[in-house]
Amino acid sequence: MIELEVPLGDRSYPVHVGLGARHRLLEVLPVGARRAAVVTQAAVGWEVDPGVESKVFAIGDGEDAKHLGTVEDLCRDLAQWGATRADVIVAVGGGVVTDVAGFVAAVYHRGLPVVHVPTTLLAQVDAAIGGKTGVNLPEGKNLVGAYWQPSAVLCDSEVLGTLPPREYRSGLGEMAKYAFLGVDGLPDLPLDEAVAACVRCKAEVVASDEREGGRRAILNYGHTLAHAIETEGGYGLRHGEAVAVGLIYAAEVARRLGRIDDERVAEHRRVIAGYDLPMALPPGLDPDRLVALFSRDKKAVTGVTLVLDGARGVEPVAVDDQPLLLGALEAVAP
Ligand SMILES: NC(=O)c1ccc[n+]([C@@H]2O[C@H](COP(=O)([O-])OP(=O)(O)OC[C@H]3O[C@@H](n4cnc5c(N)ncnc54)[C@H](O)[C@@H]3O)[C@@H](O)[C@H]2O)c1
Repeated sequence: MIELEVPLGDRSYPVHVGLGARHRLLEVLPVGARRAAVVTQAAVGWEVDPGVESKVFAIGDGEDAKHLGTVEDLCRDLAQWGATRADVIVAVGGGVVTDVAGFVAAVYHRGLPVVHVPTTLLAQVDAAIGGKTGVNLPEGKNLVGAYWQPSAVLCDSEVLGTLPPREYRSGLGEMAKYAFLGVDGLPDLPLDEAVAACVRCKAEVVASDEREGGRRAILNYGHTLAHAIETEGGYGLRHGEAVAVGLIYAAEVARRLGRIDDERVAEHRRVIAGYDLPMALPPGLDPDRLVALFSRDKKAVTGVTLVLDGARGVEPVAVDDQPLLLGALEAVAP
């Protein structure tokens, strides 16, 4: 078992990565926790034993279930169960479950402890770490939320065994991002070590900038084009698959700006190809519309800000050269 920590002073928390990590739940429950509300989805299919009185609360599946109605239903179910701050929420699922359960933990009774047991690769390397929680509005993704750090995270590699292949691939897209944020040799690591290396990288970034005053934005590497693809319909690409195309695009933009050389672009392509992820846009997307969407990205303050690789590593960069942004899209044309 690999034991890591997200270092945030008195809110620091452990992350255990490895086969059977979920069986450590009792060990990491907050001291004195009276009962556990286990939030999950029917499709997850993995049970946990909190070792204290517990009740399972199932929420709906998919991005469509990540809305305020689900938050209200869950809060009401908790109220009817008599949940108080002496209880703990345990989120068992992918990013939808950890985002919803984490947000409910932040707001129910003004804050309950939450332990995440992420069951998708994407949630293990990303969503469950770092304390961002929230839900969607009809107007856009993740527009309502809170920073609420969990008290522990258990990344059990055993539960990834039942993940549909498409979901696993989506996690690999998010994982590929870390290969360019300073994790060396990522594609060659065994799964546990690769997950742990990503968690270590994210923990370090989160610890340096918990509330995204600046540096944390690098975790959005590859995401500007990915979000535009998703907004335009995405033609069935999962989030991590869209990120994979976005990573190659970001490298192509960085090369055109003279920030990186051809070899570094080739390295991006090698990593993405090695994970068997898509390297090009799905057919039918209008390049002008994609570029227009870049300036609507939640991370953009003025104009278009892309996260780009360069001599100082990956960092946010303002790019006002529309023809360059369009030209780089040709490098990921279907
Ligand atoms: N908070 C953050 O920092 C952060 C970071 C990245 C992504 N996210 C969010 O995460 C969400 C996406 O998460 P996701 O990719 O995990 O998708 P998801 O939570 O929708 O899970 C994908 C599907 O797999 C099923 N599933 C989960 N675990 C399973 C298992 N072990 N076996 C079989 N089926 C299983 C789920 O029920 C679901 O149907 C998005 O809403 C995104 O906004 C949040």
